[in-house]
Order: sequence, then C-alpha cells, then structure tokens
Amino acid sequence: MKKTALITGATSGIGRATALRLSRIGYSLIVTGRRADRLKTLVDEVEKKGGSCKTLCFDIQRKDELDKAMDSLGKDLEGIDLLVNNAGLASTAEPIHSADWNDWERMIDTNVKGLLAVSQRVIPGMIQRRSGHIVNLSSIAGKETYANGNVYCATKHAVEALTKGMRIDLLQYGIKVSSISPGMVETEFSVVRYHGDQEKADAVYQGLTPLYAEDVAEAIEFIVTRPAHVNVNDLLLMPTAQASGVYNYRQTKNS
Ligand SMILES: NC(=O)c1ccc[n+]([C@@H]2O[C@H](COP(=O)([O-])OP(=O)(O)OC[C@H]3O[C@@H](n4cnc5c(N)ncnc54)[C@H](OP(=O)(O)O)[C@@H]3O)[C@@H](O)[C@H]2O)c1
Repeated sequence: MKKTALITGATSGIGRATALRLSRIGYSLIVTGRRADRLKTLVDEVEKKGGSCKTLCFDIQRKDELDKAMDSLGKDLEGIDLLVNNAGLASTAEPIHSADWNDWERMIDTNVKGLLAVSQRVIPGMIQRRSGHIVNLSSIAGKETYANGNVYCATKHAVEALTKGMRIDLLQYGIKVSSISPGMVETEFSVVRYHGDQEKADAVYQGLTPLYAEDVAEAIEFIVTRPAHVNVNDLLLMPTAQASGVYNYRQTKNS
C-alpha cells in the first residue's frame, strides 16, 4: 500500500521540493500552506506525473484553522506515515533591543507552536499503528546563535529540544523522529526575512553558492528511506562555502 506524507509549508522552497521528491518515490501527499494558488499548482504538477496530492490551506499560527483543516481529513489523519514539519520562517534580522514584537510572535507561533500543534494531531494515529516517522526542519540556527538571529535561533533551538523530546516519548511506539539542519538555502526565506526587500535577500547569497531546496529534499529522501531499524537523529547540511552560522567564504570580483 502507498505511504502517505503530510508536508507543512509546501507552497515554496524546501517543502515544495520535498513534496515533489516524495511523490516521485511513491508517497501520496497531503500538503499545507496559506497560498491556495501555489497549492493548486503543486497538485497539478504532482497529478501530471501520476501522483496523488491533497491540500490543506490554513495559517499554521491559527489553532482554530489548523484543527479545522486536520478534522477535514477524517480517517486519513490516522493513516499518515510521514510528517515533515517544514513550515517556518525568520521574520526579522533586527537586534534584540529593537526588533518588532509581532515578528517575534510570528516566528514563535509558526516555528514552535505550529510544529507542536500539527504533531499533536498526527502522532495519535502513528501511536495506534505503532509506526511512523517525523522529520523536523531545524537549522544551523538551532545549533548556533548569530548576530541579529536572536528569536529565530531560539525557535530553532526549541525545534532541536522538541525533536529530542519527541524521540524519547515516542520510542516505545517504534516511531522515528529526525531533524535536518541546513545552513543557507536559497528559497523565499530571505525575501520573507527582509519583508519583501529583494535586494537585501539577494545580498545574503552574493559571492557564494548556497544550498538549494532540492539539495535539502534529497537529504530528506535519504532520511526517510533508511531501513526500519535505522534512524537518522539529525543531519547537518551546509553549503561548502559556509563553515558555521557566522563564517562564510564569499568570492568577490577581485578574488
Ligand atoms: N532557507 C534557509 O536558509 C533555511 C535554512 C535552515 C532551515 N530552514 C527552514 O526550512 C523551512 C522551510 O523554509 P524555506 O527556506 O523553504 O522557506 P520558504 O521558501 O519561505 O518556505 C516556507 C514555507 O512555510 C510556509 N509557512 C510560513 N508561514 C506559514 C504559516 N503561518 N502558515 C502556514 N504555512 C506557513 C510557507 O507557506 P505560505 O507562505 O503559503 O503559508 C512556505 O510554504 C523553515 O522551517 C525554515 O526555518 C531554512
């Protein structure tokens, strides 16, 4: 029987690339995001290639919307084999003393509370079937804190702690829990972080080759295709030009 994967935040970047890859290796998909038009485009692309894809359009920060969307799955909610907790964002790059409270709330509500709320709805079905796999999107920001990364880094440190906590609590049910922690990935991430300022977003990747969404999706495929007795606890995936959250090697025109 076909396995089912629920991927949050599949309207762009890593989530979208992961959805397409998982469909290619035979998963039926349930994909989420706020942008209905993007979800529709993804369904068309998956179905054109013979795959199957359901969509749930909701804001993960809104518990009422989230619960309604999960309820709409009915029995299918119990049958999810793989949950990829990917929806997330950095909403600011301001120092701690001048950042906007709303940006902090956006990050905490999406990256931490959203991840928890979706997981709590999916896990009971996995426990019932005594099988399942959860892959959480952490980041190099979950390992290190860099200047002006304050709350974003805190949310990804929380994802690290929650990944470990889930693994411990779900051990007895045979449920795998993994995290993947990428360095810089060129997606819509920086455009979102700089509130639509494309020039600032482009500057993040100037002079170096970052990771691309497809690189992370390929690593997620590796994580979810290990034999039943093998769990990848965490996979730290960096661009060659990035040594840490702080050290990058950028080639200028003269170098
Ligand atoms: N790019 C990087 O450098 C990088 C590095 C390490 C880790 N990560 C992590 O990787 C994950 C994916 O990021 P990405 O780089 O692929 O960025 P992206 O291209 O901006 O994609 C983010 C996804 O999250 C969804 N999302 C954001 N807020 C949401 C909300 N309130 N409700 C529902 N969905 C929401 C977006 O969908 P809608 O806008 O349609 O709602 C979109 O599909 C994030 O958790 C991020 O923290 C990224």
